[in-house]
Amino acid sequence: MEISLRELQDSDLPVFWAQLTDPELQHMAAVTRKYHYDRGHFDQHWAKVRSDPSVLLRTILADDAVAGHAAVFGSPSEREVTYVVGRSHWGRGVASRALAELLKLEDTRPLYADAAADNAGSLRVLEKSGFVTTGRSRCFARARGQEIDLVHLTLSRARRFTQALRSLPTSPALPALPALPTRQLPYGLPQSGAMSPVPGRPQRERPRSCRQAGAAAPDGTGVEGVADVTGRVTVDQ
Ligand SMILES: CC(C)(COP(=O)(O)OP(=O)(O)OC[C@H]1O[C@@H](n2cnc3c(N)ncnc32)[C@H](O)[C@@H]1OP(=O)(O)O)[C@@H](O)C(=O)NCCC(=O)NCCS
Repeated sequence: MEISLRELQDSDLPVFWAQLTDPELQHMAAVTRKYHYDRGHFDQHWAKVRSDPSVLLRTILADDAVAGHAAVFGSPSEREVTYVVGRSHWGRGVASRALAELLKLEDTRPLYADAAADNAGSLRVLEKSGFVTTGRSRCFARARGQEIDLVHLTLSRARRFTQALRSLPTSPALPALPALPTRQLPYGLPQSGAMSPVPGRPQRERPRSCRQAGAAAPDGTGVEGVADVTGRVTVDQ
């Protein structure tokens, strides 16, 4: 199966609508917006992001089928990736390959991403592309009707270099390198612990999607002040 990215076409939108309104997909994504539920908001959303030159937006094709979409949005200092793959295409490496292709088109580093802590698929997709966990927070998830743990991940330039080195073919003639001796790290940092802030690595204080997240509304729908794919924060209630 060939995975490729192309510019969005009008004919993709009905497929996206069917994907984004899938309750199982919404549950997995967790932090959903009005455009996941309402066709009017959906149309407005796509019209807006398609006309915004700061948004890198692509349709994911699996062979010739529209499998989903992937995007990078936000200001140059806070570019964030997002992607959705329709359920009928899950588990076949579509998101992993689509993200790898997207990262070739977007040179900005660091890049950021957020995923629900229980979204094992998305966390794995990001990890395979070199994103590392840099934080965690609580966020209201409309699709769950409650607050959830959200994991924040970062792809740094150094990380991309390391990934590229790792992908180089290894020669069987070369002996394996001996394990480095373990030692206490400076600055009192623990030996391991991905959640510790790393000196020099930019930390976002709050995820874009939760920046203005409020308490749950009386009707249980929650008040979400979220940035959509354009990066503009709007209060959505
Ligand atoms: C998350 C999502 C993008 C994964 O798409 P996909 O095309 O099925 O992902 P891939 O096939 O590339 O899988 C990548 C890895 O994740 C694993 N994975 C995928 N779905 C998984 C799941 N539900 N549970 C556990 N692992 C999963 C795969 O086994 C694979 O691991 P491997 O490479 O080590 O074998 C897709 O399920 C989706 O769109 N979900 C809803 C929207 C969403 O969550 N978007 C991300 C918002 S943060």
